Amino acid sequence: MMKTCMKVKNNYVSINAIFKELGYIVFYNEQKKMIISISKEGNYISHQIGTNVMNINKKNYEFNKSSIFEKGTIMIPTNYIDKVLNLRFKLNESGKDLKTEKNNKSYIFQFIAEPYFNPEKFYQYIKYNKDNELPINEIVIHVNIGLDQPFYTNIKTINDPHNFLVLCNKYRQLPKSFRPLNLVKIPSTYFLGDRDAKIDATALEHLILMRNDAQKKGLELIIVSGYRTNSYQRMLYNNSKETKGIEHADTYSARPGHSEHETGFAIDINSVETTFENTKEFEWLVKNSYKYGYILRYPKGKEHITGYGYEPWHYRFLGILTATAVYKSGLTYDEYYVQNIYKNNYTTNF
Ligand code: DAL
Ligand code: ZN
Repeated sequence: MMKTCMKVKNNYVSINAIFKELGYIVFYNEQKKMIISISKEGNYISHQIGTNVMNINKKNYEFNKSSIFEKGTIMIPTNYIDKVLNLRFKLNESGKDLKTEKNNKSYIFQFIAEPYFNPEKFYQYIKYNKDNELPINEIVIHVNIGLDQPFYTNIKTINDPHNFLVLCNKYRQLPKSFRPLNLVKIPSTYFLGDRDAKIDATALEHLILMRNDAQKKGLELIIVSGYRTNSYQRMLYNNSKETKGIEHADTYSARPGHSEHETGFAIDINSVETTFENTKEFEWLVKNSYKYGYILRYPKGKEHITGYGYEPWHYRFLGILTATAVYKSGLTYDEYYVQNIYKNNYTTNF
């Protein structure tokens, strides 16, 4: 018999109260109507509210009645709890003692304590940490980016492609029909190339300020690439693949749908050669571009995170506030985004 002081009403019980009493952390996503509960031993229970199914350690259990909302509380039939009480602490995918691993703290609860912990990715964190000896916070950040899967797998379609904070990378693809809204022509004196170059209007305003201030220091900033259509990006990528091979293409060229240039918020400056890093212009840009809302998007030493080789010429417009925050954090935009922009909408306070 379960020893509990929880109120049982018509054979229903509050899920939050009962799971907490059993020592679980309970996460709730109101939009998705999802409850995820995790114990320090690593038992994992998920439930879609309003259904009669509970997933316990990756196995579905069907019950005769569905859970309900009542007076702002999520109520589950009491017989759901018997299954939970019968759990043998079976999950141990890492082969570790999950309860006490690492400094005598629950290994599992070290993940849960991370501010960017996403309960939906629980198994991925454990698996990634099995293969990678990294601090727990980096495990969480890497998995949230998608780095536990090879590049160009597990691809999500971007749902806010017009947002100037959009993250476009090897795991996130622009929708097929996407066209930027506010493209404007870059004045021809700023641009080197044989076609009309465009970028986002706000990005251009800031680019002009940046270019003018650089000019005052005797530096010349010329745009060599701005907005690209999906088909132009496809042509560039295929061309690179055919002439230099797929490895080179995937290091320096985004596949169509995955390039920041397709958003209208990215520019290449002066030269697409790595030797650009030896110029005074580069030296100035690295120290100052954030003041105009631009960041160096593919820095040296971060290739394993961005998925691209070092590109001293590629700058991404984020607006001054965010560009400054990214610059000061020393993070790539991929890392910054999963920590500061992306919300998984799970809460433990409900
Ligand atoms: N060169 C960058 C990665 C692009 O193609 O968007
Ligand atoms: Zn570029």
